[in-house]
Amino acid sequence: MKLLLPEKTVQEKVGTLARQISKDYSGKEVLLVGVLKGAFIFMADLARRMTIPLKIDFVRLASYGTETQSSGKVKFTKDLDTTLRGKDVIVVEDIIDTGITLQQLSRHLKARRPRSLKVVALLDKPGRRKVNFQADYVGFRIEDHFVVGYGLDCAEEYRNLRGIYALK
Ligand code: IMP
Ligand code: MG
Repeated sequence: MKLLLPEKTVQEKVGTLARQISKDYSGKEVLLVGVLKGAFIFMADLARRMTIPLKIDFVRLASYGTETQSSGKVKFTKDLDTTLRGKDVIVVEDIIDTGITLQQLSRHLKARRPRSLKVVALLDKPGRRKVNFQADYVGFRIEDHFVVGYGLDCAEEYRNLRGIYALK
C-alpha cells in the first residue's frame, strides 16, 4: 500500500470544498445525499465544515462487492427517506470511476424534481470513464489506481484509514 493523499491534504481539501459549496448555496438550505458506504466519512467531515443549514439522507447502491472491477450495473438497495421535490440536493460520493453509478443515480434523482441537483466527489479517476459524467465539485483527480481509506474499501477493509492509499 502506498500513501497517495495524507490526512492533512484530505482535510484541507474537504475544508476548501465545504467553503466553496457554502458560498455557492449561501441563503439556501441543502439536502446532502450520501452514497453508502464509501462516502460516510467524507460526508461527515464535509457536513461539519459547511456553514449553511443542511439536512442529510443516504442511498445505498449495489457496489463493487469484493472485486476491483465495475459490473456496469447499478441498483438501489436503500432508497432515500425524504422527498426531493423543490429541494436543493447535493449528492456526496467518494469516487468517480467509470461514471456509471453517478450517471444512473443522477438520472433517478432528477426524475423526482428537486429544485437543483449537483454532485460532489472527493476523488475522480477521469482516465477510467465509460460514460460521459462530470461532477460539479471534485476534490482530487487521480491516476488509475485502486484506492482505499477515508471511507473507501477493498473487500470492506481499510475504510477507517485516515489517509488515502493506493493498492499495489
Ligand atoms: P463507477 O460507477 O464506476 O463510477 O464506480 C463508482 C463506485 O465504485 C464508487 O462509489 C466506489 O464505491 C467504487 N470504486 C471505484 N473506484 C474505487 C477505488 O479505487 N477504491 C474503492 N472503491 C472504488
Ligand atoms: Mg461508492
